[in-house]
Amino acid sequence: MESYLMLFAIVIIIIIMSASSELIIKPPITNYHHMQMIMQWPPTFCGRPDKPCKPSVNMSDFSIHGLWPGNATGHTPFTCTDPPNPTTVEQVWLNDRSLKNFLGLYWPSLEVHWTDEMLWKHEWKKHGYCTSEIVPDVKYFNGAITFARQLINMLVTLKRGGMDPSNNRAYNVTYMKTLISEQVLKDKIIDVYISCDQQASSSFVFLKQIHFCLDKSLNTFISCPKSTATRGCGRGEKQNLIFPTRVRT
Ligand SMILES: *[C@@H]1O[C@H](CO)[C@@H](O)[C@H](O)[C@H]1NC(C)=O
Ligand SMILES: *[C@@H]1O[C@H](CO)[C@@H](O)[C@H](O)[C@H]1NC(C)=O
Ligand SMILES: *[C@@H]1O[C@H](CO)[C@@H](O)[C@H](O)[C@H]1NC(C)=O
Repeated sequence: MESYLMLFAIVIIIIIMSASSELIIKPPITNYHHMQMIMQWPPTFCGRPDKPCKPSVNMSDFSIHGLWPGNATGHTPFTCTDPPNPTTVEQVWLNDRSLKNFLGLYWPSLEVHWTDEMLWKHEWKKHGYCTSEIVPDVKYFNGAITFARQLINMLVTLKRGGMDPSNNRAYNVTYMKTLISEQVLKDKIIDVYISCDQQASSSFVFLKQIHFCLDKSLNTFISCPKSTATRGCGRGEKQNLIFPTRVRT
């Protein structure tokens, strides 16, 4: 009899524990406005003293940082708590060899202490999982590659437009945005965001990331919403944007 009571108590405790752990898991969101595909410029990222980069990083091409849900004013405030365990997101690339190769190519982890898989998993847990009701994991990773491939000639196009990476020249953000809309996306009404790293004691800013906005279910580029945020770049007209070629120290 006593052992039945004991068993009953254990069952009750397990039920309470699983109910409360469910309570702290934030459900995926559907009320986001768009997705942002963030493309980073490695020389700037790798210039941060707290983020040493792998020697293998290609310093002369953009790479994916992540795909984040954004709201109607262009902010990316969504952080979901970890997906319910066990997470099976690794299956996405384990099941698709060719996808994994593309992820390695377009979405490498730059940081020395992070494997590519760690980065993909982190981005999924922190951002992708939030919107997984609309964009399931397979679609999230395949979508990233589809759009990265559409941007494959971005650097060549920027150079042709007069924006060569250089540590000795400065550009303006407005010009870069226009070049990306008109020449890379070939649609002057599609706006992107640009983010910069500021250098203390200097009026120059360094190109950090380009944010491309996508519709909620990752079908197409859309215009990023009007936003007053300067993302570290200043107002845009000043000739103070450095598109660096090498890691600054
Ligand atoms: C780095 O990227 C550039 C631009 O896409 C490419 O031409 C070059 O071959 C790449 N270098 C390596 C080592 O992959
Ligand atoms: C978007 O997120 C930002 C930052 O959390 C917030 O200040 C802003 O009010 C949000 N905008 C909308 C339209 O939800
Ligand atoms: C921004 O740069 C472009 C190209 O270099 C130039 O034509 C334009 O006048 C600049 N805009 C401002 C406000 O300086």
